Amino acid sequence: MASDAPATLPVQLAEQPRLLKLKKMFISKFGSAPKFYARAPGRVNLIGEHIDYCGYAVLPMAIEHDILIAVEPVKTQIVELANTNPLYLDFSTSVNNIHINKTKPVWHNYFLCGLKGIQVELAEICTKSERYIGTEGGGMDQSISFLAEEGTAKLIEFSPLRATDVRLPSGAAFVIANSCVEMNKAATSHYNIRVMECRLAAKLLSKSKDLEWKKMLKLQEVQAKLGVSLKEMLTIVEEVFHLEPYSVEEICTCLGISLEELRTQILSQNTQDVTTFKLYQRAKHVYSEAGRVLEFKKICNEAPASAIQLLGELMNQSHISCRDMYECSCPELDQLVDICLSWNHGIMQFGAVGSRLTGAGWGGCTVSMVPSDKLSTFLTNVKEAYYKSNDQRLALEKNSLFATKPGGGALVFLEA
Ligand code: GLA
Repeated sequence: MASDAPATLPVQLAEQPRLLKLKKMFISKFGSAPKFYARAPGRVNLIGEHIDYCGYAVLPMAIEHDILIAVEPVKTQIVELANTNPLYLDFSTSVNNIHINKTKPVWHNYFLCGLKGIQVELAEICTKSERYIGTEGGGMDQSISFLAEEGTAKLIEFSPLRATDVRLPSGAAFVIANSCVEMNKAATSHYNIRVMECRLAAKLLSKSKDLEWKKMLKLQEVQAKLGVSLKEMLTIVEEVFHLEPYSVEEICTCLGISLEELRTQILSQNTQDVTTFKLYQRAKHVYSEAGRVLEFKKICNEAPASAIQLLGELMNQSHISCRDMYECSCPELDQLVDICLSWNHGIMQFGAVGSRLTGAGWGGCTVSMVPSDKLSTFLTNVKEAYYKSNDQRLALEKNSLFATKPGGGALVFLEA
């Protein structure tokens, strides 16, 4: 991680109702008071979906909502975990024998993977840690969680990890809306299949251009090795790949390897049985989305009069590409995006200027950019059209639909 030790902030607990509540629960559970509290913010990706693990820059911001943890260091080798949500059961284990069952995505695995990560290597702990869960993530969430600063989104670049401020236009609000569809990316293979499709696309593109394909893992590395623009990469994708999905047999023939080698040397554990991979569509999404991220940053920097419209258009293109080329949307996310973009008829402009799925997709949230003066009408309309139509959604609405400014990063609270 390109950051020092986590930030600390002395706080008066009496002024922090959530921390106070947490302290009380901690005392009633463990019989003693926590020594410190830690917070990690929620994140929203404004643009640049499914390209971090391909080596390309992304543009997220931390939001003001967060997760809190109360901690008491103990002298024993036992770690005891409890969750304020009664659905998540207490758990304890010896730190000398951490066993993470990847086939069962239980909540405490997310703590155990961090512990295991620390035991293995201190640098870039969090990104690597997530891989113990079994997800081949790209590091966007962990990077923005540590590197976020209040008031600004960040362009996050990888290898080496860097963060650059991206000031969002002042006349726009960013609204998060939960589709109320859950997709657990550790429990399903959706996410890793996409990572593998990008990895295979990088290898086949490299082979076709006589590059050293065996070492190539990311689509960005292919571009860097060829020394061409993202636009030129899109043309190369058109020339090299066919539209139809590639069977594993065809991939093995192209690379001159056996099925056994493909499975043991290239594919992840949970993608061993996949029989076809879409390479054209996935590579098209990645190279075009990487271009949209750079364009988004440029518009924010230059801040032309039409900035909001231009940024909105990029967000809309991003959603279409995620939906059609990357196939990481779902009907509810598409419906929510459509709702957020509606009410833009003639002079009746009450909708978002841009709306898209955010994060891994297949469920989860959308992020929409809304002119600040339309915000309250927008929230009322979305509540009416998406949440009130369904009881289950309505029950979740309070925490599912909100505007957020760019928030600060992870820090430790010390009771003053
Ligand atoms: C998840 C992953 C990130 C990133 C996004 C998609 O949130 O954790 O690393 O790949 O999906 O952009």
